Amino acid sequence: MKNHDVQTIITALGGRAALQALLGVGASAVSNYLARNELPQRAVGPVCEALRARGYRVDPARLEITGQQFPAAEGYHASGDSKRVLLIVGGGIAAYKALEVARRLQDQNIGVTGVMTRSACEFITPLSLAALTGEKAYTDLFSLTDEAEMGHIRLAREADLVLVVPATANLMARVANGIADDLASTILLATTAPVMMAPAMNPVMWGHVATQTNHATLIRRGVEMIGPDDGNMACGEEGTGRLTQPEDIVTAVMARLFRQEGALAGRHALVTSGPTIEPIDSVRYIANRSSGKQGHAIAAALAARGAKVTLVSGPVDQQPPADVTHIAVETARDMLAACEAALPADIAVCAAAVADWRVKPGNSQPAGKLKKQEGAVPQLQLVENPDILATLSRHSHRPRLVVGFAAEAENLQANAAAKLARKGCDWLVANAVTRADGSSVFNSDSNSALFLAGNKHEHWPEMPKSALAERLADRVEAHFA
Ligand code: C5P
Repeated sequence: MKNHDVQTIITALGGRAALQALLGVGASAVSNYLARNELPQRAVGPVCEALRARGYRVDPARLEITGQQFPAAEGYHASGDSKRVLLIVGGGIAAYKALEVARRLQDQNIGVTGVMTRSACEFITPLSLAALTGEKAYTDLFSLTDEAEMGHIRLAREADLVLVVPATANLMARVANGIADDLASTILLATTAPVMMAPAMNPVMWGHVATQTNHATLIRRGVEMIGPDDGNMACGEEGTGRLTQPEDIVTAVMARLFRQEGALAGRHALVTSGPTIEPIDSVRYIANRSSGKQGHAIAAALAARGAKVTLVSGPVDQQPPADVTHIAVETARDMLAACEAALPADIAVCAAAVADWRVKPGNSQPAGKLKKQEGAVPQLQLVENPDILATLSRHSHRPRLVVGFAAEAENLQANAAAKLARKGCDWLVANAVTRADGSSVFNSDSNSALFLAGNKHEHWPEMPKSALAERLADRVEAHFA
């Protein structure tokens, strides 16, 4: 390594003795480094780490101090202790973007240890990852020396988070099936740290039932997915499968690293979920196809962050999540009454598919069964149901944050913006009821959305409903931070 400002580094480390102790060398070796203004290659990792620990920002490629560290990125909780991410680079065309992820993580004062699969080495070199992280990049060409110095178990355990960028179809398949045939997959099986994966692959590979099954399995086991996004692919095709932008990956990782388990402790969240059903008589009713999956997942995500959650839900097959107060209702009016009784709340998320109409009193026969008469069809008249979201948004005990959902059949963005204003809520999560392939979002396990907050909007790509719930909970957490 040439042209280091060795004197600056020594001063920043706290003097010559500190460098001697760090590298296990004598005074003459340090004089030598000063005379040549050069540190040996093996010094780069420990020196970078020691400088970072003392609060400096370092460019490991040039072993240069570039400024003072921020205690933690703005908007995140300064924790004082620095965090470490084990970055596993999978073998895909997007592998080069992992380098940017590594660099940006270090900008946020996060230590990064790199691991590369054999095929990742076809796209980028371990040397470039090592230069950026200031540490050896471990590969699946795992030598016995490495095993002695830093066993894979230790590598897996020392990280605060394991991040896979890009997560290829192959790597996801191996991990989902418990195969540990290289360093990366072995670490993923051995780690007890949270795992995040940013998938990237050809859209057809992504859509394949095998990949989707593996993806669902990994999520069920607690892996948090970042993306993939929609757009043009390196292979020339278009669709879902693009790696999420490095800055967005880093944002998601920072949110996960500094997520406080009890970040919403002391907050009361009211969540509506499922359909409402409106009786025609004691056996017949008007209903809709809402499964309650999304609303229940939101209730679970908020409860996991320490909120006290009241889940008011229409009839669904879903079990209410543990740690929530569940109030089962049938009609829109019951749902509204239960919501008002649950106030005050800090947060209201109205994810229920409330029936817009009920049968006009006098038309329905709540206590009995409408008699079928030959040649006579009952003429049911409908009346409008109360709008729970709009009522909560304008309530004298209005929750500080009110979030609505909107299932739209057309003109998603325009209709959603109009609905946000009409309902008086703060945020709106809008989704298309029917997907491009004609399938319905109701009862499905995944969802994509347009997220509106004021006049800003974001596209949230197709993801499991649990992931969408986490994303919304991240926003709620940030709002109250
Ligand atoms: O008007 P629309 O049904 O499209 O609005 C959807 C949003 O409004 C959802 O958040 C839903 O839970 C809420 N809503 C409600 N009460 C109604 C109708 C809808 O809370 N009667």
